[in-house]
Amino acid sequence: ADQYAVFGHPISHSKSPRIHKLFAEQTGQNLMYSAQDVPADSFKAATDAFFAAGGKGLNCTVPLKELAWNYADRLSEAAEAAKAVNTLALTADGSILGDNTDGIGLLNDLTVNLQIKLAGTAILILGAGGACRGIVAPLLKQKPASLVIANRTPARAHTIADDFKFLGAVDACGYDALPGRCFDLIINATAASLSGDLPPLPAGLIARNGTCYDLAYANQPTAFVRWGIANGAAKSVDGLGMLVEQAAEAFYIWRGRRPATAPVIGLLDAERR
Ligand code: ATR
Repeated sequence: ADQYAVFGHPISHSKSPRIHKLFAEQTGQNLMYSAQDVPADSFKAATDAFFAAGGKGLNCTVPLKELAWNYADRLSEAAEAAKAVNTLALTADGSILGDNTDGIGLLNDLTVNLQIKLAGTAILILGAGGACRGIVAPLLKQKPASLVIANRTPARAHTIADDFKFLGAVDACGYDALPGRCFDLIINATAASLSGDLPPLPAGLIARNGTCYDLAYANQPTAFVRWGIANGAAKSVDGLGMLVEQAAEAFYIWRGRRPATAPVIGLLDAERR
């Protein structure tokens, strides 16, 4: 069977092997997908060894996405813009393609699964790290009325906004600039939520019928998902759907087949209740 894997550190709680096993069963593909704990300082050696042993494709997660971006022989447009790679694929000529399916995964979850319209809306991203950088271009391509990046360290938000302003209207600020404003979609891209922390968010931030979306996911509702519910969001969800959707895009890059994602999201969601 063709070999695939996810590399990351930590990796033991990764749902990716399960997701790809379900995709393979569903589409009748003969493949193996494992998880390997790979800290940053052994990324190159582990990746060289994986492909030398005949491996066909890798997912890379925290803290390896920038290293994978450097490792790839060539980059997709999405990976180029994100400056991060979550999917490596061995191609027919023997070169390694680096792609990034996080942005399209988020878009598919928002627009197809959750049926949220993005064109003409006001969008707020909390956080200005790698997770933010990966989603700005795909969101701007949906033509929102406005996109604001708020960050604890405003300079990082301004840097990302400057990098993407050629694609559309994008502004940056600190959390102190948020009171009095309101947004149709608020996306949490900070690393704070999983440890139970939240940025300082004012009341009234969510527009009527607005959505809160946490890029992180957990077996229990995250601090941000709970904040959204408590503050009147029509929908407040975590990133489980995005996780499955980004995996489906990687599966398509590797195998040329599109698995149905809804049954897999439904199964994983049911298991945590
Ligand atoms: P990632 O690649 O996951 O985005 P990162 O590059 O370390 O990780 O970025 C983490 C993000 O979470 C940053 O926006 C960070 O804010 P700073 O740029 O000001 O450091 C944000 N973050 C982390 N802990 C936070 C907290 N307790 N409150 C608010 N923001 C936090």
